[in-house]
Amino acid sequence: MPKLNENYLNLKDSYLFSEIAKRVNNFVSENPDKKVIRLGIGDVTLPLSQSVIKSMHEAVDEMANSATFKGYGPEQGYDFLRNAIKDYYCRNGVELEADEIFVSDGAKSDTGNITDLFDVNNTVLVPDPVYPVYVDTNTMNGRNIIYMNSNAENNFLAMPDKNVHADIIYLCSPNNPTGAVYTKEQLKQWVDYAKENDAIILFDSAYESFITDETLPRSIFSIEGAKECCIEFCSLSKTAGFTGTRCGYTVVPKALKYKNSKGEDMFLNKMWNRRQTTKFNGVPYIVQKAAASVFSEEGMKEAQAMIATYRENAKIIADTMDELGVKYYGGVNSPYIWFECPFNMYSWDFFDKMLNEIQVVGTPGAGFGKNGDNYFRLTAFNNKENTVEAMERFKTLFK
Ligand code: MLT
Repeated sequence: MPKLNENYLNLKDSYLFSEIAKRVNNFVSENPDKKVIRLGIGDVTLPLSQSVIKSMHEAVDEMANSATFKGYGPEQGYDFLRNAIKDYYCRNGVELEADEIFVSDGAKSDTGNITDLFDVNNTVLVPDPVYPVYVDTNTMNGRNIIYMNSNAENNFLAMPDKNVHADIIYLCSPNNPTGAVYTKEQLKQWVDYAKENDAIILFDSAYESFITDETLPRSIFSIEGAKECCIEFCSLSKTAGFTGTRCGYTVVPKALKYKNSKGEDMFLNKMWNRRQTTKFNGVPYIVQKAAASVFSEEGMKEAQAMIATYRENAKIIADTMDELGVKYYGGVNSPYIWFECPFNMYSWDFFDKMLNEIQVVGTPGAGFGKNGDNYFRLTAFNNKENTVEAMERFKTLFK
């Protein structure tokens, strides 16, 4: 009989967004005539851009021709895409080498997969509220997780506590779920803390393209010293509408090393390469060609136009909150609006109220941790018409 991984017993019954989908599907099947507006999971709604579609079509044609057909590609990603990402970082003031970039099927998978590189005996520090993937994947591995408070007092930007030791730290900025964004000075404090504790920061920058304030950092590697203590995860899901197309990248600097139990250096870039070549066969060529076109001049313009549409939706939501006097975070430099549940409600109760009374789906803050119990998240990823309608319906809750 196989001995099962009983760490799974320590997980909630279902993943947050599966639970939400289940509740919404039940509602829809019982109320087929009601129009439900989804501002829950951060899933994009705009179609892929012209450049992306053109590259994809060209790549499909290449696959149809024996002279240009591609079988297995490099597990780390094709050079054309790694170089395009490297140039993108360079335009944002960060120098990387192409072999520090590993193309992946998205930041969610890699923030979970990266746990393969670490022993079970590590203390993992996460903010609360937090993107549940960091917690669930470490729980699956049986690691000790400690939480730091992100709350209204620190504007949902937890800062390092000198009295707390951690080995692995997860940070996400712009933050999912709160939309809060660390400044360079704040991230510098985190890098300093990681160095003092001989710790590593796993930095999720999946929402960096939403930053409009040029003083805010888009990458942890814009902070001095970060290459010696950080790994960064990014994705085209929200940047270019790739949630269904699947393409992201993970940056593992070659300078990143820690001592093993024999006192020898182990290099994480080499370890991650070993892990990927063993467990991953790369992202499809067609998708990588499409992804590379996002980084072209035209592709970037199109991606920014998409993001501008979502930003406009974020503003519609934020303006509604202002009008109603509801305190919120995010909505600027981020597609998420995080607000205190009205009527002093618990967030899952507020979720049910929204679904039953106005048929608007959001994400209950409790799904992100105890500091989210009385908070709620809405996304800007639906279309303008639905966002306006959702906010009109939202206002009726206050009448
Ligand atoms: C979210 O809604 O938090 C995101 O869509 C999750 C993700 O990108 O996996």
